[in-house]
Amino acid sequence: MMIYRQPLTLLVSALAFAGAAVRGVVIDTEGLPDTGLNTSTWTEGTLPPLSDIWTLNDIQIAAKNVLEPRYYASYRTAALDEITYQANLNIWKQVRLNGFSFRDVSDLKLSTTILGHNFSLPFFIAPAAKAGHASKSAELSLVTAAGKAGILYVPSISSTKSIEQIAAAGLDNQTMFHQEYVWCALTPPPPILVFQKRLTSERYRSNKTQLKDELKRMEKAGFKAVFLTVDNTGVNGIRDRSLRYTGTESDTGHSATFDLESLAALRNLTSLPLVPKGVKTAADAKKCLDLGFPAVYISNHGGRVLDGAPTAVEILLDIRKNYPEVFERMEVYADGGVRRGTDVMILLALGARAVGLGRSPMFANIWGEEGVTHMIDLLKTELSTSMQLMGASDVTALNSSYVNTKWVEQQYFGSS
Ligand SMILES: Cc1cc2nc3c(=O)[nH]c(=O)nc-3n(C[C@H](O)[C@H](O)[C@H](O)COP(=O)(O)O)c2cc1C
Repeated sequence: MMIYRQPLTLLVSALAFAGAAVRGVVIDTEGLPDTGLNTSTWTEGTLPPLSDIWTLNDIQIAAKNVLEPRYYASYRTAALDEITYQANLNIWKQVRLNGFSFRDVSDLKLSTTILGHNFSLPFFIAPAAKAGHASKSAELSLVTAAGKAGILYVPSISSTKSIEQIAAAGLDNQTMFHQEYVWCALTPPPPILVFQKRLTSERYRSNKTQLKDELKRMEKAGFKAVFLTVDNTGVNGIRDRSLRYTGTESDTGHSATFDLESLAALRNLTSLPLVPKGVKTAADAKKCLDLGFPAVYISNHGGRVLDGAPTAVEILLDIRKNYPEVFERMEVYADGGVRRGTDVMILLALGARAVGLGRSPMFANIWGEEGVTHMIDLLKTELSTSMQLMGASDVTALNSSYVNTKWVEQQYFGSS
């Protein structure tokens, strides 16, 4: 049977459409700081102009407007009640900055070295899986934006593009590291139904062949170091927000047997420096030092693995208190919840040599390279102005005299 739409119905639809266009979109900003962002001129599902974007939080709201809900959820998601995810975003409120007035800050130095390689800025694009969910260029726009800005990019082994495609997109003389997981013996790693998870003996054995092959490919492709992620061996955090769309965990398949000594032995599989990523306790950082790793990467994986894990600020303070030699004898990187130049500065002042960003570049990639470049520029501007306002002129000389962390310490260490 044919259904004819009545002229009145058409008129009502047209008015509703016009009304929606006038009203713009209202987006749940999930408690992110109010930056004055006005979405009333935006159209749902459409890329807003970059000229509207003044902060990294604005970038997240834009991504929420544009990305398919399942893809937004997969980037935004975190484990269980997202206590650690929220803590990552909120810890900065408990740190006070000591701004010194009587200093010459006319000559600002933001460049640094990471494992001996020169970079223009002390923050980098951390490994994050599946950039292809945000743009067709996937990881390639992250490569070129990082290359043009002179910052480090560390692609995930779970990227949309291959190790070789990512390397080929690099600019002349661009230095990149690569991330790797300790795979389990099941190949290819099957999706695991979270509620029927069975850890077979296969999952306890590592797949050294896959690991060895991938490490060789990274070497051949010209990557200069490997961040070996150690925080979700065996299982991932349960991430409800993305599970609702998939019913499965997307990036499991990692061995559950690995202790730090066996990880240390993996260094024999490659000539590249290996850096354990996802260290969440001061004691583990010290173990990495004792085993002779050149660096350690403090991270709770953006709150996506162990909910309740401490923030990078707290872990860095714990290392300073209990194992200060870690900072003296190895490089320390950190990430989690970094959205402002002041956040970068706080982690550097607490001993990190470089600071990673996970979600923000992934969200910024909705505009491709231009968006990622804009994100880097925003953070760079915030970092340089904050440095000058603090009386600090060199990122490599930031130290704990610039931060008052007593509030955090009281809560974290108690009265002891
Ligand atoms: C969508 C997404 C995918 C990620 N994939 C990986 C990965 O493949 N390997 C890894 O070591 N870390 C991964 N991470 C963790 C990031 O490297 C980083 O530790 C974290 O995102 C930092 O927190 P932030 O998102 O608040 O900046 C991922 C994070 C996100 C948001």
